[in-house]
Amino acid sequence: MSYLEELYSLEHKTAVVIGGGGVLAGCMAEGLARAGADIVILDLNLENATKKAGELKEFKVKTSAIMVDASDKTDLEKAAAQILEDFGSVDILINAPGINSATPFLEIAEEEYEKIMNVNLKSMFLACQIFGGKMIEKGRGGSIINIASVSSGPPLSRVFTYSLSKAGVVNLTQFLAKDWAPHNIRVNALAPGFFPAEQNRKILTQERIDSIFRHTPMNRFGDPEELVGATIWLASEKASSFVTGAVIRVDGGFTAMTI
Ligand SMILES: NC(=O)c1ccc[n+]([C@@H]2O[C@H](COP(=O)([O-])OP(=O)(O)OC[C@H]3O[C@@H](n4cnc5c(N)ncnc54)[C@H](O)[C@@H]3O)[C@@H](O)[C@H]2O)c1
Repeated sequence: MSYLEELYSLEHKTAVVIGGGGVLAGCMAEGLARAGADIVILDLNLENATKKAGELKEFKVKTSAIMVDASDKTDLEKAAAQILEDFGSVDILINAPGINSATPFLEIAEEEYEKIMNVNLKSMFLACQIFGGKMIEKGRGGSIINIASVSSGPPLSRVFTYSLSKAGVVNLTQFLAKDWAPHNIRVNALAPGFFPAEQNRKILTQERIDSIFRHTPMNRFGDPEELVGATIWLASEKASSFVTGAVIRVDGGFTAMTI
């Protein structure tokens, strides 16, 4: 094994990627597979999840896809039982389901508020409980990567509930980093800047894009591939062994700039 392989290889690890049928987590899943991890894609969209799991077989790793509503505890518990039976353990968890809406604050209905909070935040709480619980039972540590956002704080304009949910993701991450350090389970957040994807397609009007680029020193959108390096680094128990509770921003400098 080369030096880099030793540092970053994810061979003999199983990664569960929730929301892996989507643009960003799908790309992150591919990075993990290329680094040697077996991959289970969990998503509400079974068609996309199955397609992605099929594509990843090219990298000679074991893959599968399971349909879940990530905000439903029973769905996640059933998936976890199935994964333990088929794969033996869960070593890496990527928490990335997400929905968004730009409803003006005074018009946000309770149903919309609850839906976004459930999919973006409650899902991560449940997945950490269920899959993190399995990691603790197995006693071989693990790495959890929760997908936060540049809206995790201060909030982004127009997307109140989304920003609130993403602030919660960082808080959850920091809480568990402390709680689970004795189990050698590292819990970190990855905060992407702006990447065109399905959940933000309607929100990215030309005016919004201009405003984002003006505030992004690199003056462009990110490419999902640009999340892969940080993902493999955070997933690797060797390369990031002393990193927990961190929020890693991959945002072209968006959060480094005030004006
Ligand atoms: N695209 C960006 O600019 C950006 C920036 C910061 C953070 N994020 C976050 O990255 C993550 C991935 O989003 P994306 O941008 O790739 O969008 P996406 O819409 O392509 O992917 C989101 C995925 O989540 C799945 N999903 C939605 N509701 C679900 C549920 N109840 N249960 C299970 N799966 C569900 C969707 O089917 C989809 O596959 C999200 O958490 C998002 O908030 C995205």
